[in-house]
Parts: sequence; C-alpha cells; structure tokens
Amino acid sequence: MAIGLDVGTSFIIAASEAADGIQYKEVRDAFIRLKATTPIAAKMMEKGLTGQKYFKDTDGSFVVIGQDAIERAVERHQSASRPMHRGIISPRERDARKILKFILGAVLATPVSTSEVVVFSIPAQPVDQDGEAFDTGFHEDAISNDIRELGFIPKALNEAEAICYSELEEDNYTGICLSFGAGMVNVCVMSAGEAILKFSTTKSGDWIDQMAAAATGEQESTVQVEKEGGSFTVGQEVKDSPVLSAVAAYYIRLADYTARTLANELMQSRALPTFATPIPVIVSGGTSRAQGFTTAFGSILQAQKLPFIIKEVRQAKDPLRAVARGCLIAASL
Ligand SMILES: Nc1ncnc2c1ncn2[C@@H]1O[C@H](COP(=O)(O)OP(=O)(O)OP(=O)(O)O)[C@@H](O)[C@H]1O
Ligand SMILES: [Mg+2]
Repeated sequence: MAIGLDVGTSFIIAASEAADGIQYKEVRDAFIRLKATTPIAAKMMEKGLTGQKYFKDTDGSFVVIGQDAIERAVERHQSASRPMHRGIISPRERDARKILKFILGAVLATPVSTSEVVVFSIPAQPVDQDGEAFDTGFHEDAISNDIRELGFIPKALNEAEAICYSELEEDNYTGICLSFGAGMVNVCVMSAGEAILKFSTTKSGDWIDQMAAAATGEQESTVQVEKEGGSFTVGQEVKDSPVLSAVAAYYIRLADYTARTLANELMQSRALPTFATPIPVIVSGGTSRAQGFTTAFGSILQAQKLPFIIKEVRQAKDPLRAVARGCLIAASL
C-alpha cells in the first residue's frame, strides 16, 4: 500500500487509498513538554494524558504532541513549540528530530509489507535567503532516514510539484502551482508533466502572524487563531478589529511580494518553454483559504509582466490536503 505524506510546518498529513476514496490522517506539528516536580505528580500527570498523543522522555518529562499540545499550552498561557520552522526541521529546537520522528510514527502506523513506499513532500530551496545560511538538504535526509527506520521506502517529492499532480489532470499537467503554507510559499511550473522550475520564498502564513502581531502588540498565537477564524476579507479593513485589519493588509503585501518574485523568476528562467496556449495558475495551502485571497492574488499576478498568458487563477479543490493527495498519486505510479 502506497502512502503520500505532507511534511508541513504546521500540519503533517498522511494520505492512503481506502475502499471509499482517499483516507487522510493528520497531526498538528506542535508539542509541549510537561515536567512534574514529584513522582506522585508525574503519575497523576500521566493519568491525565490518557487518550492523548504523548511520549515519556528519558528525563521523565512528558512530551505532548499535536492539537492536544496547543490546548495544553493555551491552558498555561504559553505557546506550543514547533519542531519545524520555515518548511524545514527547526534549528531552534534541540529536540526537533525526536519529536518529528514520533509524529511520523503516529501518522504512518506500521507498514504492512517491506516494499511500502512513502512519498514525502520537501520544500524547494528559497530564492530570498541569500544572506542567511539556509539549506533544505539536511531536512530531506533526516526525514528520509526516519521514514526508513519506521520500515518504509522513502521517496522525496517537491511540495508544489505534488500539487501539480493533484490539480492539473484536466490541464494536461501544464500549469503553475503555488503552495501558500505556514512557513513558505512553494512554486512549481509544470509543462506536460515535467517540472521545469521549482523554488520557494519564506514569507507566508507565519509571516502574516508575525507582522500583524508586531503592528498591534498582540501575541502571534492570538493573531493566528483570529486569522484562522476567518471573519475578514483580504485587503479590507475590519471595523473594531485592529488585528484582523492588520492581517487583511499584510495578506495584500504577501500576495504582492509573491507575485513579484514569481514574475521575476519566470522572466529570468532559461529553462521555461514557450507556452503556446494560456496556462492555469493554482493556489493551495492553508494560507490560501482566506476569503478573497485567490481573487486578490489573481489580479496582482495579472498586473505583472509575464512570459505567457494566464488562463485563470483558481484554488485547489482541497487546499489543506492537495500536497498529501499529490504525493499519494506519485507513490501509486
Ligand atoms: N482559514 C484560514 N484562513 C487563513 N489562514 C489559514 C486558515 N487555515 C489555516 N491557515 C493558515 O495556513 C497555514 C498552514 O497551512 P498549511 O497546512 O498548508 O501549511 P504547512 O504545509 O504546514 O506549512 P509549509 O508548507 O509552509 O511547511 C498556517 O499559517 C495557518 O495559520
Ligand atoms: Mg505545506
């Protein structure tokens, strides 16, 4: 049985074939460490964790994973920690690998045969991190090793390329797919099934949270919750809500930044073929779910100088799961 795996900054999602269609299993990419002060408190703490995803670490502390970690953090007026940052294993978290491996084990379960393939998503190298040491190579190798140790055969696939497999069937696998995630925007230009150009930028949902938090003096996690609540339209002020007004404004800046970078990369590319017909652009990822985003990004992109004509800008059918679905399609080939 083949598995598609989206290893994202905010969600890890596994997709597999079931009798009634594709079955998805997802875990929020977050954790919190709970440390009891006495052995009795530790016993009580463990009882309280029954039914939740957690493991007991070598120092006796409990590491709670996923949505449960976020809820625990909110109870304690803290933010949950994250094992990934900007699309790759977080260099800021000492325990990132241990935690990611536990999450991978939880979504992948046990292999049924020794030849089970897991196609997992990786980000492309960013084009906007010139001044910083940033490389996706170690992330790919580490995730690959973890999947192998869990008993599967790992194969890496670019995240935006996976979206092309998921969304471009009716377009002869020709078009541009953009994954607006938490840490990154990943882009793939595909021509007749071949990935011609892949790159990423490092401003996306987390960047909106950071900027809107800085502008309003709120916590990033508070901004994120309000943003995901969705009572705003991209580019429009929200009466009585400075946070959502800032979110709506930074969405336009994100669309503008991404469209300009995309246009620039396309105009510079030597690999790009001459497209004879207009081509579709597909936006996906959690950040693309905001009301008015697809339309706003579409008109900003149309205003750029591009080496082809855009047929349409549309949203992926299931923007949170298109990567996992595309990885599954690749794994089943
Ligand atoms: N309804 C919504 N409106 C606005 N933003 C949303 C909504 N739902 C989720 N998001 C945002 O989408 C992002 C998560 O998207 P997604 O699951 O595609 O990312 P990821 O794959 O985990 O990250 P990455 O691809 O960057 O590694 C987060 O920033 C989250 O706040
Ligand atoms: Mg993603």
